[in-house]
Amino acid sequence: MSTQLHDFIRGLPKAELHLHIEGSLEPELMFALAQKNGVQLPYASVEEVRAAYDFADLQSFLDLYYAGAAVLQTEQDFFDLTHAYIERALADNVRHVELFFDPQTHTARGIHITTVFSGIARALREARAKNGFSGAMILCFLRHLSEEDAIATLEAALPLRDEYADLWTGVGLDSAEVGNPPEKFAHVFTIAQAMGFRLVAHAGEEGPPAYIHSALDVLQVERIDHGVRAEEDPALMARLQQSRMPLTVCPLSNLKLCVVKDMREHNLARMLRTGLCVTINSDDPAYFGGYMNANYIATADALELGKEELVQLARNAFEASFVSDEQKQLWLDELEAYAQQH
Ligand code: ADE
Ligand code: ZN
Repeated sequence: MSTQLHDFIRGLPKAELHLHIEGSLEPELMFALAQKNGVQLPYASVEEVRAAYDFADLQSFLDLYYAGAAVLQTEQDFFDLTHAYIERALADNVRHVELFFDPQTHTARGIHITTVFSGIARALREARAKNGFSGAMILCFLRHLSEEDAIATLEAALPLRDEYADLWTGVGLDSAEVGNPPEKFAHVFTIAQAMGFRLVAHAGEEGPPAYIHSALDVLQVERIDHGVRAEEDPALMARLQQSRMPLTVCPLSNLKLCVVKDMREHNLARMLRTGLCVTINSDDPAYFGGYMNANYIATADALELGKEELVQLARNAFEASFVSDEQKQLWLDELEAYAQQH
């Protein structure tokens, strides 16, 4: 693929709507934090960690991902993690991120939920002040745990709502999908919706199209995270197209977790060309081999996306973001000006 198109991708203003901040923990920082905090890692070197990132499916990844997150202990650790992600995002011309964080991964180890909120928020606010970088936080419930645990997590976080009102906009649902359908979390999503939180959920990554239907009908989410298995259900595809329901697709993640065997088989281009509101995101970039530009470039190369399609993908993400219409328009204008100039 031409380097000219790669340069076009690098310069494109972007929004990232599917990024697990714990999934941006690079092996170097993992090692440094392990040493500082006296955490024993089952690896001798950074190279050994990277070599272990050879996944057969979602669960084989989650096992390493939760083990790696154990090095995060202090407010400064969460700040450093988030700060490092923001640096990578800025380098990729990402203007806005709505990042996922998993409090249960940390509170289960005795880390206070305030520690998690505070470190992530401090990095996002600092980047907003210094670089005009825009961020929001989406608290995700771990679906392999019970709904009672999710409700307890929401209740533990609620006293922080005012302090983080500028950042904490929504709740989501992640972790092991198959066997943990959206219905399991109907009550906690009803509570969160009544409180005015924006709603998203992972669905149709490994789980069947029925999980996408129930994320929409039972949880009433406003975006579907992944959603790639929607293609198996023509009625669902028509529904997603007509409603312009955003899908936060993560191409390199899908490849690394064997959701697709080859990037050339990825359905992102087909879904985009059918008129679905598809976006490109990095999911867990430290584990899957790339941040936003790497995801755009790998997808563009494998699926022969043109400039118009790349602009449409970036446009979809700004439109699907949970910001004011005024802010969206500013970014969309910037995007159109970029597209015109290039
Ligand atoms: N948590 C982090 N990454 C995830 C993914 N791709 N699917 C489900 N849960 C996750
Ligand atoms: Zn994800």
